[in-house]
Amino acid sequence: MDRIRIIGGTPLNGRIRISGAKNAALPLMAACLLSDEDVTLTNLPHLADIMTMTNLLAQHGVKLTLTDQDGGALCFNASHIFNLKAPYDIVRKMRASILVLGPLLSRFGKAKVSLPGGCAIGTRPVDLHLSALEKMGAEIKIKEGYIVAFTETGKLKGAEIVFPKVTVGGTENILMAATLAEGRTVIKNAAREPEITDLAECLIKMGAKIEGLGSDTLIVDGVEHLHSATHKVIADRIEAASYAIAAAITRGRIELTDIPLNLLSAVAHVLIDIGVSITETENGFITDAQNAYLIGTDVMTEPYPGFPTDVQAQLTALLTTVSGASLVTESIFENRFMHVPELARMGANINVHGVSSAIIRGVPRLSGAEVMATDLRASMGLVLAGLAAEGETIVNRVYHLDRGYEHLEDKLSSCGANIERLHGE
Ligand code: EPZ
Repeated sequence: MDRIRIIGGTPLNGRIRISGAKNAALPLMAACLLSDEDVTLTNLPHLADIMTMTNLLAQHGVKLTLTDQDGGALCFNASHIFNLKAPYDIVRKMRASILVLGPLLSRFGKAKVSLPGGCAIGTRPVDLHLSALEKMGAEIKIKEGYIVAFTETGKLKGAEIVFPKVTVGGTENILMAATLAEGRTVIKNAAREPEITDLAECLIKMGAKIEGLGSDTLIVDGVEHLHSATHKVIADRIEAASYAIAAAITRGRIELTDIPLNLLSAVAHVLIDIGVSITETENGFITDAQNAYLIGTDVMTEPYPGFPTDVQAQLTALLTTVSGASLVTESIFENRFMHVPELARMGANINVHGVSSAIIRGVPRLSGAEVMATDLRASMGLVLAGLAAEGETIVNRVYHLDRGYEHLEDKLSSCGANIERLHGE
C-alpha cells in the first residue's frame, strides 16, 4: 500500500488551484440518472470516489464519454438503463452511492440499493432518506442487506418533508426524487450546503422547477421529463480550507485560486480569529501566517453555514501548534476524533472529553512520526501536522486521501513542501 512521506518544518509559499468539489460532483453524477438525454459535467476532480461513482453508474447502464483530453469533463447518457440495483460491492466502498436511490426510484418506479453499513466516523444511518421517500408514496423494505423500494403507480408523489435533523445526502436524494414526482414537494429543514445549491442549479438547467435555493426550504414542482444540460462542478471548499490551513500551520503564505471566499466564510472567520490573515483576490484568496502570532480559539462544527465537520480534523491539527488552549466540539458525527491519538503520537497535547469535545493546548513543536488515519479528513489532518512537524512523518493508508484530494503531493510540493508518495507493493 502507498504511503506519504513528509519532511516537515518548511513554511509553504505559493499558489494552488482548487479543484471541483467531490461532494458536489457525486450527487451531480447521480442526477444524470434522471434524464434520458446527455448531461455533461465539467471540472470533475480526478479522485477515487469519482471513479467509484462512474463504475456504479456504468453498471446501471449509463454510457460515459470523455469530452476533454484530461478527463475533467464527462458526458453521461442514461437513456438505456438496464439494471436498477446498486450492489453491496460498490456501496460498501462509498456511502454516497445511496444517492442513486432517489433518481432511480423517481424515474423508474423501483430500485434496489445496498444499505451502506457503519463507517469510521459514525453509524451514519439513512433512515431519514427512507422515511422521506415513504412519505412520497414509496414502499420500502429491507431485504438481505438491500433497500428494496417501489411505487404502486410508477411515480412518486409530491409531499411535505420535514427533516428532523439536517442531512446533506437526505436533502440531495429527496431533491432529485422530487424533480420527477407528481405535484409539489416542500423540503423543510433542508441542508443549505453550497453543493446542494450547485445540484439544484444543474437540475434547473435540466428543466426542473425548484425554488428556495440556498435556504432551508426547497420547493420542487415535479415535471414529466428532464433534458440535456452542461454544468460546471462548484469548487471544493473543503480542499481550499485544507490548503489554507497548510499555509497557517507552516506559518507560510498560499494563494488559492478558482475558489470564491464566500464559500468558506466560517473557516475564514476562525482563521482570522486565531491571527491568520485572509485577503480576498479576484478569483480566490490569500492565506498568510508568515511571522504571525497565532492563539487558540473555540469552535463547534455545524451544518452550513456553520464550521464544517469536514475541516475539523485539519483545524485540530493547526490548533495543536498555536499558543494557549482551544475547545473543539464536534456536533455532526459521533466518532470524529480518531486523528487525536495519532496527533498525540506527534507530540500534540489534546484531551478528548466524552465523544464530542477536545481541549487542545498548543505545543512549541510537533515531531514527525509514522501515523495512520481511518478516514479522509483525519488523514489530511495528519498530513498537515506532518508539514509542520520537525523531522519525518509517514502517513499510512493513503487510499483515504486519494478519495478526496486531487494531486495532493503535487499541489503541496509546488508550494515548497518536502512530500512524496512511497509506492507499496
Ligand atoms: C455529507 O455526508 C458529506 N458527504 C460528508 O463528507 C460530510 O461530512 C457530511 O455531509 C456532513 O457535512 C458527501 O457529501 C458525499 P449527513 P452525509 O446526512 O450526506 C445523520 C467527506 O469527508 N443522519 O448530512 O452522509 C448522520 O449520521 C464526507 O467528504 C441520520 O441520522 O451526511 C450524521 O450524524 C464525510 N439519518 C448527520 O445526520 C439519515 O438518514 C449528518 O449526516 C441521514 C443522516
